[in-house]
Amino acid sequence: MVGASLDGLAAAVSAAGGMGALAAGALAPEAIGPAVARVRAATDAPFAVNLLMAPRGDPAPGEVAAALAQLTPWYAQLGLEPPEAPNSFAPDFDAQLEAVIAASPPAASFTFGILDRPRVARLRARGTLVIGTATTVAEARAWAEAGADGICAQGFEAGGHRGHFLADPEASLVGTLALVATIRSAVDLPVIAAGGIMDGRGVAAVLALGAAAAQMGTAFLLADEATTSRPWRGAIERAGDDATRLTRAFTGRHARGIENRFMRLMHGVQDEVPAYPVQNRLTQPLRAAAAQADEPEMISLWAGQGVALARPGQAAGMLRAWWDEAGEAARMLASRTERKDGS
Ligand SMILES: Cc1cc2nc3c(=O)[nH]c(=O)nc-3n(C[C@H](O)[C@H](O)[C@H](O)COP(=O)(O)O)c2cc1C
Repeated sequence: MVGASLDGLAAAVSAAGGMGALAAGALAPEAIGPAVARVRAATDAPFAVNLLMAPRGDPAPGEVAAALAQLTPWYAQLGLEPPEAPNSFAPDFDAQLEAVIAASPPAASFTFGILDRPRVARLRARGTLVIGTATTVAEARAWAEAGADGICAQGFEAGGHRGHFLADPEASLVGTLALVATIRSAVDLPVIAAGGIMDGRGVAAVLALGAAAAQMGTAFLLADEATTSRPWRGAIERAGDDATRLTRAFTGRHARGIENRFMRLMHGVQDEVPAYPVQNRLTQPLRAAAAQADEPEMISLWAGQGVALARPGQAAGMLRAWWDEAGEAARMLASRTERKDGS
């Protein structure tokens, strides 16, 4: 979870018997090896490294200036000038991938795009299992074709960015329940279910659907080890039952978060902002300054539909509670599904 976690949360989850994911999407290539080494130093347990397959960002002439002009009143609310037009918009993915291959973590997961077969083969040759994020059956099939070892099936309940890469976002909004079941039927690979899983009941539900594992994001946002900022934590604690919306306004790519003033007021123009990662880069200083100023109305408050169920605590304690709850749910299911006709 870029923006909400570093190696500390990944290591804590792995050490507690889950599989932590090091959010490397925003890391400079040269920072990836040291971050992987920190996870390895903290635990012998398996972990994953996640990369975002962002394009470099190639704005049309005048696009950045127009976007910065649109953001100027927002920067002004924090007493700031908008930033200078940046030279680059995201870390170089090819260099990030080389750093991951060199670090050879037990698993690597990829979101926003798809690797070709030779790159999947290079990771696997280094002993790294490859997990591809899919929001549709077609994307899961594409990852299977590319030689992936597993599929993360990301339902539309999920917090943060949507992982779609084949169809447009509207055509990629499948709920976790339908997505896991249909991918399971279509692809002969382990499926990791993601989206709306907030506790052991959710874990049991996706295992019952045939998922091999549950991936939880929002449920960790209040964890002690998460790097979720103070105003973001406050917004999560206050979140109502229907708090989240999809928006393109913060980053130029659809993502789910708790609705705030920025999302509401930018809603009408969100289709005009530059595509990811350009808008993401242009709003970064705004969001950082807002977090510093304890101002939740201008931060991307990424969170999934289950956010009202997020609880604080240590990651290890959360995992233990979820295992127990999942076991309890399984026992309850077994008793509820016993045949009553005696045969
Ligand atoms: C704050 C936040 C940051 C995220 N960052 C990433 C990321 O860097 N890479 C990624 O593949 N998914 C990212 N996700 C999506 C999660 O991997 C996962 O699909 C999602 O959290 C599951 O749904 P849930 O939020 O309902 O648990 C992020 C989610 C959140 C809430």
